[in-house]
Amino acid sequence: MKTLVSKISLGLSLLVAVFFAACSDNYPKIAGEICPGEIWPDTNGEHINAHGGGLMYYDGTYYWFGENKGERSSAALVGVMCYSSKNLKDWKNEGVALAVSEDPESEITKGCVLERPKVIYNEKTKKFVMWFHLELKGKGYSAARSGVAVSDSPTGPYTYLRSSRVNPGILPCDMTEADKAVMDTLNPQNYEKWWTDSWTDAVKKGLILKRDLEGGQMARDMQLFVDDDGKAYHIYASEENLTLNIAELSEDYQSHSGKYVRVAPTGHNEAPAIFKRNGKYWMITSGCTGWDPNEARMFSADNIFGPWTQHPNPCVGPNKDLTFGGQSTYVLKVQGLDDAYIFMADIWRPKHPIDARYIWLPIQFKEDGTPVVEWMDSWTLDYWKNKK
Ligand code: DGJ
Repeated sequence: MKTLVSKISLGLSLLVAVFFAACSDNYPKIAGEICPGEIWPDTNGEHINAHGGGLMYYDGTYYWFGENKGERSSAALVGVMCYSSKNLKDWKNEGVALAVSEDPESEITKGCVLERPKVIYNEKTKKFVMWFHLELKGKGYSAARSGVAVSDSPTGPYTYLRSSRVNPGILPCDMTEADKAVMDTLNPQNYEKWWTDSWTDAVKKGLILKRDLEGGQMARDMQLFVDDDGKAYHIYASEENLTLNIAELSEDYQSHSGKYVRVAPTGHNEAPAIFKRNGKYWMITSGCTGWDPNEARMFSADNIFGPWTQHPNPCVGPNKDLTFGGQSTYVLKVQGLDDAYIFMADIWRPKHPIDARYIWLPIQFKEDGTPVVEWMDSWTLDYWKNKK
């Protein structure tokens, strides 16, 4: 009898422990639960190491690509990681998709900054194409380049092709002759002090666009988006992070077509995450405060090339004004579920980068279609099933 009682009480204590520990640090989640901000073990029990990442769905499997972060450094010491999952909950480590190079002469040499990798599949060439933000080793964030790599298999290995600034010598497709004439009159010497009214006006009219025209536009935080017609776009923070560019990619997705627009000049947006719902494009971004969180911003447009309209911060719940402590990285359209989108963000830990966390939250929509991202301590994919 005593044994039975002690067995029952042991069982109860275990249940209670599992209940309380399910969403806390260093404890594997109960299968199926997504716990934003907590340790997220892969199928080997190790916290997923794929930061600033994005997802790709191919042939029944999701692939999660992201930056491999080290214990003490945010520099790229390993490369881009790939994880795979069929259910978005259990992720298998597929290894390094794009490895940094041991060759000190390589643009992607170990110790460079390689951020926010994204992968898309090109139906025509049957190739997987990875783009990422690249900063050359030892040069801080001054290079502001885009790198591209390709593979015949989703998990890689990816072959590095090149890096550069974007669209050298090419003006935005919506710039008129009159706009260009105004830009041509801008003299940088008159605008040395940032954030004055006249400087802000000059940046909007193309002060930095003109400065960088010959060598190509700067490209830092970035996103890729494939539209319903198969055209792909590269969205990146340009002009010293003051302006977003939306640039069409070539048919093989491996270069730029030369067609692009500027969005929100002087708006200081980073971390663009874009999706399309009922024919409307939505883009969630952040402000620019380094690794520290700030308030999310949101834009919408009926055409990918704009005009884009700004909306209030879509976040709701505790810490909503700091995007729950995170910074946007991707929005996933869930396959096979009606109207299901997941907002994804990173909680950076610059002093212990490998311990950075992931925020995944379902996107809700108001009656007028405006997205809302509400904090939840935990949730499952049944969220959409239960909503019906
Ligand atoms: C914010 C960006 O979004 C990150 O990807 C990274 O570049 C940090 N800034 C570096 O401070």
